[in-house]
Amino acid sequence: MIGAIHFGVLAACFVLFVPMAMAGWHLSRNKMLFFSCALFISLAVCVHLTPYFPSVSDIVASVSSVVVYDHRVSCINEVNQIVWDVKPRPNPESVRRNNGSKLDYFDKNWDWMKSRKVLSCEFQKLDKFDVSELLNGSWVVVAGDSQARFVALSLMNLMLGPDSEAMDSVKSDLFRRHSDYSIVVKEIGMKLEFVWAPYEKDLDDLVLSYKKKNKYPDVVIMGSGLWHMLHVNNASDFGYRLKQLSSHVESLMPFSPKEQEGRGSVSGSRSMHLFWIGMPVLINGMLNTEEKKVKMSDTVWHEYDRSLGESKILRQMGGPLILLDIQSFTWNCGPQCTIDGMHYDSAVYDAAVHVMLNALLIESHQTL
Ligand SMILES: *[C@@H]1O[C@H](CO)[C@@H](O)[C@H](O)[C@H]1NC(C)=O
Ligand SMILES: *[C@@H]1O[C@H](CO)[C@@H](O)[C@H](O)[C@H]1NC(C)=O
Ligand SMILES: *[C@@H]1O[C@H](CO)[C@@H](O)[C@H](O)[C@H]1NC(C)=O
Repeated sequence: MIGAIHFGVLAACFVLFVPMAMAGWHLSRNKMLFFSCALFISLAVCVHLTPYFPSVSDIVASVSSVVVYDHRVSCINEVNQIVWDVKPRPNPESVRRNNGSKLDYFDKNWDWMKSRKVLSCEFQKLDKFDVSELLNGSWVVVAGDSQARFVALSLMNLMLGPDSEAMDSVKSDLFRRHSDYSIVVKEIGMKLEFVWAPYEKDLDDLVLSYKKKNKYPDVVIMGSGLWHMLHVNNASDFGYRLKQLSSHVESLMPFSPKEQEGRGSVSGSRSMHLFWIGMPVLINGMLNTEEKKVKMSDTVWHEYDRSLGESKILRQMGGPLILLDIQSFTWNCGPQCTIDGMHYDSAVYDAAVHVMLNALLIESHQTL
């Protein structure tokens, strides 16, 4: 009410003083009268129409939320922009003395690209405490083939510390071949599950089992493709399976991503966050069996990659899953980062985990 009175007084002053000021500019009396009336009428029209328009604060709020939303979308698009710095260790002798593997002869460092756009997103490598806060109370599932297993291992490494006793037991349990694994990090009540699901059908079954039980993890990180490539070797079938997976994932999204509110951790937001672990670059000459060299050729790899794109399972194609771009990480890390041309140095999977966590931060509207 006070606002309306102030506005009225202001308007009156306007109508009175603007023409008077103009009179000082030697306008004729008729012109002055004309300006006066014109001002009065336009102000009156404004005042009477105001209630029919959303208030200014509403407009400002909606504009700013669009801006924030755009920023989120564009930063999700930039989150995989990583550059690598791989160079020989200065002291190869000590690596040899410690029976180091071929991988140990190279130092591998990575960081987000220093372009203006990427810098504006303020991506950061999170430490143990940041992750504890972000994943506090949440249920995280990593599902897929051996690439997924390495991602799970990197995540545990970050949360438990690489040299901890807990990590030793995680390593031995997680690497029992082809089996599931689950651990609860008691301090933060976080549950991490690794589900061995080498085929897309296995991932699909997993997703449907959540739907059936009506219980959904907070974060699902999944990926497959290499087993299908080796044992089925049919890119259009791969694409078909992914489309099926994608439609099932979409059908069970209980809440749209836009509905959630920012809270302390991802477990507070009422939505699943979904990620796809991309396929690594395969270095054909380094693959360790003849069968792999024949069936997992560059041509087949590209057919599979095209099927992935066409399945529209990825966010960048309008689908539900955010890509962790293992392809670009492995390509840029290079042959120094792999022994068998298929599984890469832990640095690659560490990068994938940090990309995932930064995307989670953006998705759950948080800054640290
Ligand atoms: C390296 O391997 C040799 C032979 O396999 C072994 O005798 C030696 O103890 C190993 N050294 C280290 C540091 O593990
Ligand atoms: C996790 O959440 C609980 C309950 O909200 C809180 O008491 C605890 O301090 C949190 N722990 C961390 C590490 O953030
Ligand atoms: C590949 O998969 C598609 C779709 O499942 C199927 O129609 C086609 O016959 C398969 N091709 C071969 C060569 O098996």
